[in-house]
Amino acid sequence: MNLATGPYGKITPMAPVSLIVVGAGQRGAGYARWVRRHPDRATVVAVAEPSQVRRARLATEHGIAPENTAADWQDLAARGQIADAVLICTQDRMHAEPAEAFAALGYHILLEKPMAPDEAGCQRIVAAVEKAGVMLAVGHVMRYTPYTRAVKQIADSGQLGDVMSVQHLEPVGFWHQAHSYVRGNWRRSDLATTMLMAKSCHDLDWLQYVLGRAPLRVSSFGSLTHFTAANRPPGAADRCVACSVEPDCPYSATRLYRGLLDRGEHGWPLSVVVDDFSPQALEEALDNGPYGRCVYACDNDAVDHQVVTLEYPGATTATFTMTAFTQAGHRRTQVFGTRAELTGDGETIRVYDFLTGAERTVTPAAAGGMNAEEGHAGGDAGLMDAFTAAVATGNRELISSGPRESLASHLAVFAAERARLNGTVETIPPYAGKLSRTGRVAAQPATTCTRQVWPWHGVDTSTSRPALVSRTV
Ligand SMILES: NC(=O)c1ccc[n+]([C@@H]2O[C@H](COP(=O)([O-])OP(=O)(O)OC[C@H]3O[C@@H](n4cnc5c(N)ncnc54)[C@H](O)[C@@H]3O)[C@@H](O)[C@H]2O)c1
Repeated sequence: MNLATGPYGKITPMAPVSLIVVGAGQRGAGYARWVRRHPDRATVVAVAEPSQVRRARLATEHGIAPENTAADWQDLAARGQIADAVLICTQDRMHAEPAEAFAALGYHILLEKPMAPDEAGCQRIVAAVEKAGVMLAVGHVMRYTPYTRAVKQIADSGQLGDVMSVQHLEPVGFWHQAHSYVRGNWRRSDLATTMLMAKSCHDLDWLQYVLGRAPLRVSSFGSLTHFTAANRPPGAADRCVACSVEPDCPYSATRLYRGLLDRGEHGWPLSVVVDDFSPQALEEALDNGPYGRCVYACDNDAVDHQVVTLEYPGATTATFTMTAFTQAGHRRTQVFGTRAELTGDGETIRVYDFLTGAERTVTPAAAGGMNAEEGHAGGDAGLMDAFTAAVATGNRELISSGPRESLASHLAVFAAERARLNGTVETIPPYAGKLSRTGRVAAQPATTCTRQVWPWHGVDTSTSRPALVSRTV
């Protein structure tokens, strides 16, 4: 037994929970690193990973016995329940099956987003965890940052008055777009999922969380416009290593990855390109691997800019912009209320009060950049903290990204993508059941409960949490 003080202000006696890791890639290894830093909270007792290098690395770091390692998640599942919980960190199209299997075995589940690339898969996951009565935390890490908790606390406090509009920007960053969505794992929707789901399901989920409601209607525009063969500069080669115009190209793979290696920055994104951080391994990857390709000569279809407009209950409107063509950085948001305006840049929050003319600045505890290498500004740690505490105590309330609210925000993403592709305004089906972060409210048939559930439709009851560091200027 030990004492744990999470960001929730409670002191709760907790025994370390036992975890198995399914998929020891970037995310699985990242969550496992948190466990190594918090041995009093959790232990990793088994791993399933086809890559021998990754499997062996994680097994060594956690002292996992050889019989508790497997190349495939199905081999671990075949052994029945050998731990309290599972971290499912496989790629986008490999989430629903293991989630269903491990739920049926009684595991609590931390599941990376997206839940699934299609609505049916998401619904199957929710049905499976509800049938099994296990907890599910979806990897909506943005809900768990100190910054988000501060924004949510302000929005919930009433000091903004009624929120009328929101403007939210996701500056993906020129090199991040090239790395993940032109050359990398999320470049094609048939291999992974759509850009909006891959990158911006976090944002539609974040808006739902902060506003406390799911949207009713959406429209969307956007396309893949720049990273196409039509924009290939004259004289460009298929690979950056052999390209005469590479010095003038902002998207040069050689500049990006050799620079990271030279500076000894071996984490993400370099760790996606090579397992072995030697110049030879990198040159081999640049010569032959996907990450050495010209951004104008790839097999990508992910959009490079997209806007979504949303209407929420209460006539609140929001606009969301995702764009590749930025310096990579924190999301930026303005929330416009009837009494005050909130401006947030991912680190600092300013609230301008219309009545007094005073501007208050809130600076939540610094938690690093909003990228994978830096743990998503405290979101990865916040999620692990909440999930392990929930498993240890049996308190589902600690998980704010449970099955129902995560399903609701995924449904909004699917609707927005339909709107973009079809040029329509999409009405999001009324959600059958009050949204609750606990996930314990059973779904009801939509035909019988559309009216019944009103005004609960779209209400996200997830609450804000800890105290803030704030000063008035
Ligand atoms: N929450 C976030 O902010 C966030 C950020 C990045 C990625 N993600 C999501 O996390 C998931 C994983 O992303 P990643 O970057 O870690 O990918 P990754 O490719 O680095 O890791 C996935 C791992 O799964 C392994 N795998 C494949 N088949 C398997 C099997 N049958 N059994 C067990 N393991 C298997 C792969 O070998 C790989 O190591 C994706 O769905 C991605 O969209 C979430």
